[in-house]
Amino acid sequence: MTLETEGSLDLARESLGVSHLFDKYGEIIPRGTVLFYEGDPGQEMYIVLSGKVRISKRVRHVEKTLVVLGKGEFFGEMAILNSRPRSATATVIEDCKILIIDRETFESMIRTNGEISVRVIKKLAARLQEANNQIENLLLKDNVSRVVNLLRRLARERGASASGEFVMDYPREDLATGAGISERQLEEVLKKLAAAKMVRAVEGRVSILRMEALEKFARFLEMKDQFGGLT
Ligand code: CMP
Repeated sequence: MTLETEGSLDLARESLGVSHLFDKYGEIIPRGTVLFYEGDPGQEMYIVLSGKVRISKRVRHVEKTLVVLGKGEFFGEMAILNSRPRSATATVIEDCKILIIDRETFESMIRTNGEISVRVIKKLAARLQEANNQIENLLLKDNVSRVVNLLRRLARERGASASGEFVMDYPREDLATGAGISERQLEEVLKKLAAAKMVRAVEGRVSILRMEALEKFARFLEMKDQFGGLT
């Protein structure tokens, strides 16, 4: 199956610079397909050209989403790099165009192409950073703190100024994953924050009405956590 369109060429270049591999490794995979399960042996890595893939882990019989990956992202490299079973399950949640690269090709790519190696290392570093952020968030006790902390961090990373409205360029559905709570719990918290005029919904995104107010509320939650037991 040929995937060599101009758009996908750009994407492959963006992700790992592997445009010439389309004809050989490209596939279209429908929504609902499980590419592999946690614990499976792994011999391939994947590069997403379009669509979405959910990476999840089973924790006490509940499937928890770790991350949703979209165009230009790759996954499945860990089993190849560390010769361990798959660390998580990968499910196509939006029809995908994907490159499926076997172990030998991937290893030879990173051995021979410094640029590809640097991209892989940068992605792994970013993923570790994100995992650390998630750990920090999970250490917070209540859902309101988790959401407020996440919104504050994302807004700061995106350069929100102290005053004025800031529409967060971050899909609302990914916020629950980032905060480590369910979508229903996220809705409940956002409703409370909207009632307090701190946020509002804008076309599937969350808008922070005043960054100052959110920062102040985050500090209040920290103080409450620190000193709440004294009263
Ligand atoms: P692998 O262990 O081969 O199979 C599951 C893949 O999911 C893993 O490689 C990574 O590519 C990806 N993965 C695992 N944990 C995370 C995470 N926390 N964030 C992003 N991707 C992950």
